[in-house]
Amino acid sequence: MNVKVIATSSSLGLAARLSTLLGCSMIAVDEKVFPDGEKYVRVPHRLEGSTVVLVHSLYQPQDERFLQLLLAIDAAKGAGAERVIVVVPYVAYARQDKRFLEGEPISVKVIFKAIEAAGADALITVDLHRPSSLDEWLEIPHANVIPIDALIGYFRGRLSNPVVLAPDRGALHRAQLAAQLLGAQYDYLEKVRDRVTGEVKVVPKSLDVKGGDMLIVDDIISTGGTIAAASKSVLTEGARNVYAACTHALLVSGALDRLYAAGVREVVATDTVPSPVSKVSVAESLAKAVNEMLTTLSL
Ligand code: R5P
Repeated sequence: MNVKVIATSSSLGLAARLSTLLGCSMIAVDEKVFPDGEKYVRVPHRLEGSTVVLVHSLYQPQDERFLQLLLAIDAAKGAGAERVIVVVPYVAYARQDKRFLEGEPISVKVIFKAIEAAGADALITVDLHRPSSLDEWLEIPHANVIPIDALIGYFRGRLSNPVVLAPDRGALHRAQLAAQLLGAQYDYLEKVRDRVTGEVKVVPKSLDVKGGDMLIVDDIISTGGTIAAASKSVLTEGARNVYAACTHALLVSGALDRLYAAGVREVVATDTVPSPVSKVSVAESLAKAVNEMLTTLSL
């Protein structure tokens, strides 16, 4: 099969690692902005007969990147690609996956429907906030990669008497997986977020954390408010050290400073979003998912 990785500026490093693992060439998309602010992308090669793996992540500025993705899908199809497998390492708007308040949109539905309408033949993402959103809103084949092995691998042998914590009940499945890999205990905290102000509070909970190293795992660190609140809570309960691992390090508004000020010793994230703490790569997990998708599509 003739496979080509196409990368935009959002994910050049990850796309390069992925193309090496897949053993295929990588083409970088030409990008520019017109004087009035409109975006332009161009695939600078013909792609007849190819299956394209288009890698494009939707971190900030997410609205611009979203439009670039749609344009790049259409450009790849127009350049002759037989099929386009879209790899979106980080899907923006995935947390607005239901109408929490009356009158709100289901933003993740809008994102997925637009990707499909632009011509994507399959979609692969990483640690989607609520994985069932894929089944709910996509008709095309799709996969959600959980890079917990890579994240936890980083901490193996570095923690003493570890306990893995989910900052809320919704993230418990991730903590459970991580704990299995580390051979550790796991638990969750009760998080309450004010839906209007966004302020996060962790309800104090009696945990058996005394003298242990806590590893708090979450899908996203945005402001750092969630993990900072969790860190303060477990340090009050007598934890020895707190470490944080997340898949997508959005790190807005001084998030790292907030985390360190709350007693977090080290923050580790993947390269779905480039950041100063993106110390592990999801490339291997993505390569496996792409190979599986190629098999699915060729049936
Ligand atoms: C929300 O439910 C997510 O799983 C994360 O916990 C949240 O997005 C983290 O945001 P922040 O770092 O701003 O607290």
